[in-house]
Amino acid sequence: MEIIIQPTPAAATSVAARLLAGLIRKKPAAVLGLATGSTPLLLYRELIALQLNWRKLTTFNLDEYVGLDPAHPASYHSFMEENLFRHVNIAKKNVHIPDGMTRDVPKFCARYEKKIRAVGGVDLQVLGIGTVGHIGFNEPTSSLASRTRIKTLTAQTRRDNAKFFGQEEAVPYHVITMGIGTIMDARHCLLLAFGKKKARALAAALEGPISAMNPASVLQWHPKVTVCVDEEAASELSLRDYYRWAYDHKPGWQKI
Ligand code: F6R
Repeated sequence: MEIIIQPTPAAATSVAARLLAGLIRKKPAAVLGLATGSTPLLLYRELIALQLNWRKLTTFNLDEYVGLDPAHPASYHSFMEENLFRHVNIAKKNVHIPDGMTRDVPKFCARYEKKIRAVGGVDLQVLGIGTVGHIGFNEPTSSLASRTRIKTLTAQTRRDNAKFFGQEEAVPYHVITMGIGTIMDARHCLLLAFGKKKARALAAALEGPISAMNPASVLQWHPKVTVCVDEEAASELSLRDYYRWAYDHKPGWQKI
């Protein structure tokens, strides 16, 4: 696991954008796993500005709210269209976002998994972390082997996401999310976290025991993880000086 601490969210995002841009240039038909929420907003803005070629890329989003029409302004369909897809030349047929309106959730989820396998798996999975330690919407005590399925949000996550709905009561209780096992199958995971309110969950995920109580901690078991964070999110990492030192002394060939 490589932990890259930068002074600001913008600086940490730039490192992440260079990583993604490098992959897209090297592998134009790459498969990307994408996240929503406030964390990747800057990343998508930077990628748009780079004017990369998205024509052959395939994307799979982590999650979507159950029962929310794709046209709803707080749906992750709307989020992705607004913040990324309408600004790049991606082929619509290559975009995959869980269907929160599906009438048969288990069947849809099995098909989502099958589609990921059919394109050869995810090359790079973008992740944010919830204040409860979730990745995707895999809330605490999610099975570390879970696949795409329905989950019930915790009260804390509903509170955290109320900002996207205007009021807490409007936040759906259920979501479809890629599982932890699904995320762990990605060849490379890129975790972003910004701000003081992520510091505790991040420290538990990166330096605590691997536990379903902090689902992001499973990433310690993944062979290739890059973590890009700002100073505030890194503030509770006990080895933060070491991570900075390691990044500053990276061999030239390893630089992002
Ligand atoms: C979003 C997702 C979530 C978020 C997490 C952080 O697709 O899967 O895990 O990454 O809840 O959300 P923000 O970025 O809004 O703090």
